[in-house]
Amino acid sequence: MSRRKQIYEGKAKILYEGPEPGTLVQYFKDDATAFNAQKKATLDGKGVLNNRISEFIMLRLMEIGIPTHFIRRLNMREQLIKKVEIVPLEVICRNVAAGTMSVRLGIEEGEKLPRSIVEFCLKRDDLGDPLVAEEHVYAFGWATQGEMDEIIAMTLRINDYLQGMFAGIGIRLVDFKIEFGRLAHPDGLGDHMIILADEISPDSCRLWDMETNKKLDKDRFRRDLGEVTEAYTEVATRLGILKPNPSTANISVISSND
Ligand code: TYD
Repeated sequence: MSRRKQIYEGKAKILYEGPEPGTLVQYFKDDATAFNAQKKATLDGKGVLNNRISEFIMLRLMEIGIPTHFIRRLNMREQLIKKVEIVPLEVICRNVAAGTMSVRLGIEEGEKLPRSIVEFCLKRDDLGDPLVAEEHVYAFGWATQGEMDEIIAMTLRINDYLQGMFAGIGIRLVDFKIEFGRLAHPDGLGDHMIILADEISPDSCRLWDMETNKKLDKDRFRRDLGEVTEAYTEVATRLGILKPNPSTANISVISSND
């Protein structure tokens, strides 16, 4: 790894230069942060689980025609991805009130929303990723109206698909955050296409067991509920990525090529 040039280090991932032009290697760390990195910890195995879960979800989404940056998983902690210019927005989609929406609007956590809601936060750690309106996006040129139409349509399709996928394994998709990037158009036209980037994992979703409402996501870390990697392992097991192994917390990976 030291041979590779590091492009960027985030809170939970590192990006390295990829083997071919236009590619990057996305490395999943075990580090967890919350509340704008005021709370930090290392959770053994989290990076391995998120790499696998995000791979699984990106592949399913590609099957239904969502363009993504994912090319292939390289090993336990790394995946090869397409290099994109990230749209500086965190796109949040919510089905059930939780987290900052509950606080901001005084809606009890767990209340089903009348419809799915898409929100945008500006990616600015120094400002605590503030909520912004679409008007801000256009006025400050963070994305065009055409790009936002694509982003919103894709987000709602992703939400529909993932709600069904998780419901099938007894999990409620409460909310999630995704990011998009611009990729030069493959046909060489001057415009760019918008593709799904970053990751989709229990770090970036709220996932509740449908029967017990047990949290199976990063809120276990944010709220000191304990058993964080055990919850992520549960998600991976229910998705069929890991073999059920009730006797140990060891991660036994199905059909691994690592
Ligand atoms: P939200 O309730 O806005 O914030 P918080 O997680 O601080 O309570 O989060 C909505 C969903 O989006 C939740 O599943 C966490 C995810 N999210 C991120 O992964 N990263 C972020 O920077 C933000 C703002 C949200």
